Amino acid sequence: MNNFVSDSFKNKNVLLGITGGIAAYKACLIIRELVTRGADVKVVMTPAASEFITPLTLSTLSGNDVVVKSFPASQKEGVSLRTWHIETALWADIMLIAPLTINTLAKISCGMADNALTTMVSAIRSPLVLAPAADLDMYQKPSTLENINKLTDRGSFIIDAEIGFLASGLTGPGRMASVEKIIDATELVLSGYKKDLVGKRILITAGPTLEDIDPVRFIGNRSSGKMGYKLANSAFLRGADVTLISGPTNENTYPEVKVIYVRSAAEMKIAVEYELKKNDILIKAAAVADYKPSVFNEIKLKKENKLKSIELSETEDILASINKENKIVVGFALETDNEITNAKSKLDKKNLDMIVLNSLKDSGAGFESDTNKISIIKKDGNKKDFDLNTKFQIANNILTELKTIK
Ligand code: CTP
Repeated sequence: MNNFVSDSFKNKNVLLGITGGIAAYKACLIIRELVTRGADVKVVMTPAASEFITPLTLSTLSGNDVVVKSFPASQKEGVSLRTWHIETALWADIMLIAPLTINTLAKISCGMADNALTTMVSAIRSPLVLAPAADLDMYQKPSTLENINKLTDRGSFIIDAEIGFLASGLTGPGRMASVEKIIDATELVLSGYKKDLVGKRILITAGPTLEDIDPVRFIGNRSSGKMGYKLANSAFLRGADVTLISGPTNENTYPEVKVIYVRSAAEMKIAVEYELKKNDILIKAAAVADYKPSVFNEIKLKKENKLKSIELSETEDILASINKENKIVVGFALETDNEITNAKSKLDKKNLDMIVLNSLKDSGAGFESDTNKISIIKKDGNKKDFDLNTKFQIANNILTELKTIK
């Protein structure tokens, strides 16, 4: 582990809008995350939101006054009494509204400015990130969907509500996205990315494969799976349809990403072959074991048997053997020496469009770390080096490079 934090939020001014839904309680966690990551957070809330959560809580967490009223009677009520809506709107590098009720969604979509929050939206110049939330029937009403589409077309970044257990006791679409996903989406937009992968179907592999010796022992590669999972998250946020084939890891992705869990290289190969038919792009971030025990012992090997060696045989090279016709294929290479030569040779031998090279010589790069330092080499020999960054930001670098491949 390392303490490197992406500077995406550092010294950034985030204007958080909160509207009156039960998910307003999650705004506390959002503020905490933003402040921890170095952002200056100001809150504007609707009067209805203050029924769910108090301005005192929000101003304590954000360290700033909270705006509720359009016409505060005095400075004490939260804002300076001049053109506060213009000043705050110009101050903001980004405006996030979470939760966004269908009422405020409707107001914003038709340009109303009838309270402090909607007035601020009408004055904002910076990007708008919206996390709608409602009960399932409210969320699925044609008017709600139309308003979401309207704001998407106008350039707002919508974090769609998730399917899940709702406050009403019903289960379905409408639950506000997780705090983690909202923070990721805000970072994505602050970093200049948008939903530029809509219509792309991306298959990603992640984690190690484990090759069993007996029911309790295995051989495998060191791999946390973090790079592959961050790739899945960023590709999803950027609008792609994502399938993740994962070896055993402790990582989680968003609920909308389809995950197929595998254990061995042989299982991963079957899954990749099957899923690749349905996808346009394969990113093979998994650390596949090159060897497996030639024999699997059904019964646990006992110490008294004095095992001296295990006979190994090669696993199949998935990347080298799959049918790549009409697919864009990206491989990874983790090297300790002759990095560029080795990566280029893998690119050629496995017939890849692009290879992502990690050098274990770089501190903060490679497995188990939250950061990575990579070079990308394309089929035409073009090489690009990237600075050390979080795996989420590195994932975005990889996806942006991938977009240039025809
Ligand atoms: N790979 C694969 N199937 C394997 C081994 C590797 O699909 N049996 C893929 C990995 O997912 C990665 C790329 O090939 O995208 C390179 O993996 P790496 O382990 O670096 O290369 P190897 O070909 O195994 O070579 P070596 O271990 O000798 O460096």
